[in-house]
This record gives sequence, structure tokens and C-alpha cells, in this order.
Amino acid sequence: MQVLEKDFKFLLNGEWSFSSSNQFINIYSPSTGEVVGRVPAMTKDEIDKAVAGARQAQKKWEKLAVSERAKILHAWADELVKMIDVIAPMIMNEVGKNISTARKEVTRTAEIIRYTAEEGVRIHGEFINGGSLDADSSIKTAIVEKKPLGVILAISPFNYPINLAATKIAPALIAGNAVVFKPATQGAISGLLMIQALENAGLPKGLVNTVTGKGSEIGDYIITHPFIDMISFTGGTGTGQNIARKASMIPLVLELGGKDPAIVLEDADLELAATEIVSGAFSYSGQRCTAIKRVLVLKDVAAPLIEKIKEKVEKLTVGRPEDDADITPLIDESSADFVQGLIDDALAKGASLITGNKREKNLIYPTVLSNVTKDMKVAWEEPFGPVLPCIIVDSVEEAIEIANESEFGLQASVFTSNIEKAFTIASSLDVGSVQINGRTERGPDHFPFSAVKNSGLGSQGIRQSIISMMRDKVTVINLKK
Ligand code: G3H
Repeated sequence: MQVLEKDFKFLLNGEWSFSSSNQFINIYSPSTGEVVGRVPAMTKDEIDKAVAGARQAQKKWEKLAVSERAKILHAWADELVKMIDVIAPMIMNEVGKNISTARKEVTRTAEIIRYTAEEGVRIHGEFINGGSLDADSSIKTAIVEKKPLGVILAISPFNYPINLAATKIAPALIAGNAVVFKPATQGAISGLLMIQALENAGLPKGLVNTVTGKGSEIGDYIITHPFIDMISFTGGTGTGQNIARKASMIPLVLELGGKDPAIVLEDADLELAATEIVSGAFSYSGQRCTAIKRVLVLKDVAAPLIEKIKEKVEKLTVGRPEDDADITPLIDESSADFVQGLIDDALAKGASLITGNKREKNLIYPTVLSNVTKDMKVAWEEPFGPVLPCIIVDSVEEAIEIANESEFGLQASVFTSNIEKAFTIASSLDVGSVQINGRTERGPDHFPFSAVKNSGLGSQGIRQSIISMMRDKVTVINLKK
């Protein structure tokens, strides 16, 4: 096997190794098109060893005091920050995120790990007295313990290669679980570097094993592995649905796609709304599940709002992540083709181009479309790119109806100066979270983060993630009558 300088190893039971397959997967920079590095294409036999090793290591880890587990997480956060000058440029190279956002991803991840360690030590069981529901309450005493699930399969997406990995791995570990970590191919090296930081922090052998390889080849094998006890996945809706169909009788937490609307009322602060919408729609070139992906604006304020959005979008810088541009090349050419297809379809069906619709390979300039109607694909499909469709509505009721007609239900924003109206609208929206007068986003990371419909399953956020990786174990003492 010819090993190149940019070849990375996987971590299996405390050893960094190449695969016996002698195969690697190239990771290309979305910005330069050059090979950033290669990760091993692991065999099914190696995956079996990764899961078995994790299962073995978990037994000892579970018995360690939670404060000792927390110490390792704190040390991990420290090691991660020490490696920021290695990891942030790697995130930039692998996934085309601009360098300042990549650095923020590292510091945000360290903060999440620390908070998870602190939160985890305060999660404990309870003690309940009872008889039958309507009888003597002193006959039975239940000791309810919080137990780990076992081996958690953590599958992370390309767009937050370390953040959305650590938000699975840290809660799993503090709860006493072991982890098999399968990063998305693009972003895998950043994920492996993050695990290197965890190893530097004193990770016990086998407690976190990494799996690299093409999802299309090993994905089904690992999600149906009999010794995986829970899957936490972030990624595309199609892949999430495949996991939900195939992984049987284990808990799942799925964070999938979105089509988050920003609903703008006549009495909204339009300057604030435009600022939040542009930031929400175009950060990391729209490659966020929580990006604002459509504007539903009341007709009386449509023109001034769209004018403000246009002004702000035209100030965004477009270029290379190395130069810290706001809008950078999309993850690959086929993603850019998809976004371009949505723009072309809308324009062919009569949408008005407000700004943008320029493309250089996988670099799509920020594009705003108005007079978007329900027959256009961009009204419903998730672009995961820098295109913002504006739909002009006659009433709040129509905005709510269009918002809820989507197959997705992640988040929504409502912009209005009438807080009562905002609450009424919020309560009618079929989504996990509603942001009043702010952009859609996951953070702060200790808030619950959930979704309905095709946007996901289960609840995340630091405390919810830890609890999702635990079960209740009940021991009942029956007293003599
Ligand atoms: O892409 C999905 C992420 O969970 C979104 O996170 O709102 O912090 O960008 P964010």
C-alpha cells in the first residue's frame, strides 16, 4: 500500500491504523479542488472490531464516577482549543467554511463540551413511593436510576464537522456510553483531529472508535449492526429516513433538513428583519439546516423589505474561504447544480430576480428571488445554498398556511412589533422552535432543539441530548404489609 503524506488513520481500540482494505477516500477542497487528504475506507471486519471494542470499553467507563468522566471532557475542551490553529484551517479546507467561522466552530464546540460536562454531573435518578395508583402509598418504593444505553453511533454531517460531532459524542460520554463515530466524508479529517484532541485528554482505549468509509458502502452495515444501542444522526432527510426504516428497536435522534420561513408582518422593524433574514439565509452560504429558506412577507411591506434585503445581500463578500469571504463555494459541484436548478426553475416560471444568479463552478453568488409562487420548486425544496425566495402574501393566515404546508418543520421566524400577535402565530406554526424577531438558529446550545415532520426526531440541546442517551432502570422494594 502506498501511503501519502496527507493520509489519515482511523482510531481503533487505542491504535491509529490504516485499513486492511488498502483503500482510501480522497477529500477535495470545495475551494481549490485539490486533494486535502485521504481517509481509510474501512472494511466490515474493522467496523465489527470498532463496535466490539466500544462495547467492551463502555462497561468500565459506566462505572467511573461521573465527576471523573467530566474531567476528561474538560480536558478535551482544553486540548481542542490548543489545536485550533490546526483544526480550523482543516475545516476551511475540507468544507469551504471561511476561516473566522471555522475558528468560531472550534471555540463553540469547546464551550459545548464544557457545558455538557457540567450539566451531566447534575443528572440523576429519583426515588418514588407508591402502592397501586389509588391505594397505600408506602407499600412500594421505586429506585429509578439513570443508566447509559451502551454504544452510541454518532453520525455527523459535513457542514459542522466538529461541532455536530461533539454535540453527540460529549453527551454520550458524560452519560456513561461508548461511541462509534462516523463522520461525513467531507469533514472527516477535522473529525479525526478532534478525536486526536480527545485522545490527548486521556480517552480510555476503545471508548471512542472512529469509522471512515463511504456511507453508500458501509452505511447500512453500521446502522443495522446488532451491537449499536442508539443512533444520533445529523444530515439529509433521505438518509435520516433510511436510518429510521432500517435501524430496528433502538432509540434514534435525527436532525434533518428544513425549509425555515421568516414571516414578516406590516408592523415589523424592517431594518431588523432584513438584517436577521440576510444573516439567517446566507451564513456559511446557506449550508445550515436552520438557514432561513423562504420569506413570507405581507404585501404592504414587501417592497421596502425586499429593497433592504437586496442592499444587505449586495454587501456580502463573495470568494474564497481563505480570504474570509461571506459567500464561499458550495461543498461540491452537484450541490451547486441543484441550487442553480431551483433558481432556473423559478425564473422560468416568472419569479423576479432581485440580485444574484451568477455562478463560477460551485461558487453561487447570493441570490434573492421575489414574486415566488407555490408552483415553483424553490418554494418547497431545501436548497442548502445561497438562494432566498420571497413569497408575497395577502394575510397572516396565508403566511401560516404556506409555512405549514411544507414537508419540513424545523424552525420559523416571526417579525412583528406586536408580541401578542407573535405568540398567536408561533402557536400555529408546526415547527420545533419559533424565533420572534430573530433569525432561525440552533443556539444558544443549552436550549432544546427539536423538529417535527421530515425535519427530525427527538430533542437535542445539551441537557436533552444527555437524557436521550440514557434510560430509566427501576428497582422496586416491596415492603411487608
Ligand atoms: O445545520 C444544522 C445545524 O444544527 C445548524 O446549527 O443554527 O447553529 O447554524 P446553527
